[in-house]
Amino acid sequence: MIKTVNEVSPLIGTNPDSGAVQTVPFPGHTSVPEPEPRLLSAVVAGTGFDVPERILTNADLEQLVATSDAWITERTGMKERRIAAPDQAASDFALRASQRALADAGISAEEVDLIVVATVTGDMPFPSTSCILQHRLGATRAAAMDVAAGCSGFIYALATARQFIATGAYKTVLVVGVEVLSKITDWTDRGTCVLLADGAGAAVLRASADRDRGVVASYLGADGSRGDDLFMPAGGSRIPASVESVQQRLHFLKMNGNAIFKVAVRRMAESVNRVLRAARLKAEDIKLLIPHQANLRIIEATAKLLGFPMERVFVNIQKYANTSSATTIIALDEARRAGRVLAGDVVVLVAFGAGLTWGGVAIRW
Ligand SMILES: CC(C)(COP(=O)(O)OP(=O)(O)OC[C@H]1O[C@@H](n2cnc3c(N)ncnc32)[C@H](O)[C@@H]1OP(=O)(O)O)[C@@H](O)C(=O)NCCC(=O)NCCS
Repeated sequence: MIKTVNEVSPLIGTNPDSGAVQTVPFPGHTSVPEPEPRLLSAVVAGTGFDVPERILTNADLEQLVATSDAWITERTGMKERRIAAPDQAASDFALRASQRALADAGISAEEVDLIVVATVTGDMPFPSTSCILQHRLGATRAAAMDVAAGCSGFIYALATARQFIATGAYKTVLVVGVEVLSKITDWTDRGTCVLLADGAGAAVLRASADRDRGVVASYLGADGSRGDDLFMPAGGSRIPASVESVQQRLHFLKMNGNAIFKVAVRRMAESVNRVLRAARLKAEDIKLLIPHQANLRIIEATAKLLGFPMERVFVNIQKYANTSSATTIIALDEARRAGRVLAGDVVVLVAFGAGLTWGGVAIRW
């Protein structure tokens, strides 16, 4: 039987200093240890993705900046990426990815209760891209909100959606990760332009009483003191758009690549360990690890730090490069369609990104 909120005892929190898991009981209640306070499971009922048609190869980039196919391949693992047409925006890709995920789940848009879109490159500052998507999908019953957590966006959105399902607030939630990074890319900066790309992925989460399936653990982290390592300075209320802000190229993504690299490895490894601990699982239980696709060397270094075999790490960075909040959900959909995720398998998604933010989710299929 499903427990009510007051019957579920320990809220499990983590102490960032010690890394130790702490249990914090509700006042007046005796703890009955459970892995996490779950009421209903959030099961992934369908997935889908969409990328622009236009392929930009490393050879194409050689024509734009002082770079080479050899440098990009060796330093990043990227070979090509998809780039939106001038008239395409985030909701165009989010729409097709969502339609595919809904078809995969076998449900109509009217059944969706909530849409959560992770993006930092939405169609416009407001209304939210989730509202634009709600209208275009015909998801007339759905509430809609955007989540901005950089490349960790899909993990943050999935963890958020899971909470609404766990408490019984919503039965069906559409979670989308979408970016059109090409529109905020400085195409004269070889340190960033070779890395960034466009695309969207979507997942349909549904409430289930089957507690052995679905999102079994999630973990989110942030360090706002490192915001300057990856940011877009202008376009907000601090530096609104002006002739000067455009001339100074402040509407483009800026990144301290070396600093991000080290944090990424450490935080993604930490995120894997934390979701494993929260789900009472071991690394051997993970059928497939799907890390954020920012750099193959970051992925390999993370696996090495964890002592995790690369054969069980999903990589598609060579085809799509870094689509920020879309990478993990595009990869999950590709992995499923390649037959690499079967019933009962545990899949762990981890990411890091601007904020800085990081996090992970463990899903049992
Ligand atoms: C950006 C990144 C690929 C750079 O790789 P790196 O091995 O750290 O390279 P460095 O920054 O140390 O640069 C080494 C040299 O290559 C040069 N270089 C940088 N980009 C280049 C490019 N596209 N082509 C050729 N040379 C390039 C640098 O100018 C530098 O030259 P120098 O030694 O003469 O100064 C890497 O740091 C990275 O992936 N960081 C994480 C970025 C990330 O994940 N961002 C998204 C977060 S969600």
